[in-house]
Amino acid sequence: MKGIILAGGSGTRLNPLTTVTSKQLLPIYDKPMIYYPMAVLMEAGIREILIISTPEDTPKFMKLFGDGSHIGLSLDYKIQPKPEGLAQAFIIGENFIGNDNICMILGDNIFYDPNMKEKLIRATNLIMGATLFAYKVDDPRRFGVIEFDKNNHALSIEEKPLHPKSNYCVTGLYFYDNNVVKYAKELKPSKRNELEITDLNNIYLNNNTLQVEVLTEEAKWLDAGTVDSLLETALFIRDKELAIHKKIGCLEEIAYRNGWIDSCKLEESIHSMGNNNYKQYVKKLLK
Ligand code: TTP
Repeated sequence: MKGIILAGGSGTRLNPLTTVTSKQLLPIYDKPMIYYPMAVLMEAGIREILIISTPEDTPKFMKLFGDGSHIGLSLDYKIQPKPEGLAQAFIIGENFIGNDNICMILGDNIFYDPNMKEKLIRATNLIMGATLFAYKVDDPRRFGVIEFDKNNHALSIEEKPLHPKSNYCVTGLYFYDNNVVKYAKELKPSKRNELEITDLNNIYLNNNTLQVEVLTEEAKWLDAGTVDSLLETALFIRDKELAIHKKIGCLEEIAYRNGWIDSCKLEESIHSMGNNNYKQYVKKLLK
């Protein structure tokens, strides 16, 4: 399975913060936002990752991560000329995806779930169909909403419904089989002129090949797209890191624990870090 981080978009809700920089490079406590979705893909064991962003911001992500070898990854980059929808990622990424299955995560989505690893492994073991991750929210009208039957099977998915059929929304983490490229190419732009991920998910739903993992009460999902959620996310990460005595989204740590980099490689990374808490934390891994 390969991975895509979709990190373009306009970020208009965060203006003027995003006037000259990408939303996904803004800080969430002690790391750039994109570290957190990158960490989710790495926790899922995915090492070949494509970052898709705008023409202006793609070079910045290249500067941040390079080829990814320092964290045991193989990274690729592609430009989305205009924000024409989440599902366009599978058309832009067609060559990268090749014959593989694909996991896509949005660059502004932050997940924290103590049981995330097992859910991710289940989703990466997918051979056919799609897996979505659902999360209970108070204001479902802003999202894609999933209706379930009493056995927790998805019955419908509606994009930003006026009368939501449940409080469960579709989060920005999606696992698909290789048919996703073909399906994405068949989509027609919506009224807002985007290729909608909800339309794609409905294809899988109608084929009876859609699975949904529901994030539990202990889990937290945040989409850091507004000024308030940006701050809420940063505070959540700081408080959680202090409580569990562990960093969330420390890419060097995940790579090292996964056995993707050895201690020499980790030391090389440490040498290139400024003297700060992040460096001290990573240094402790060697002890
Ligand atoms: P949104 O938050 O829906 O859109 P946005 O980032 O453009 O922000 P705003 O509404 O404030 O203008 O996008 C969700 C994520 O998907 C975000 O990380 C940006 C990314 N995205 C793309 O990369 N390309 C796209 O075509 C779209 C629609 C979103």
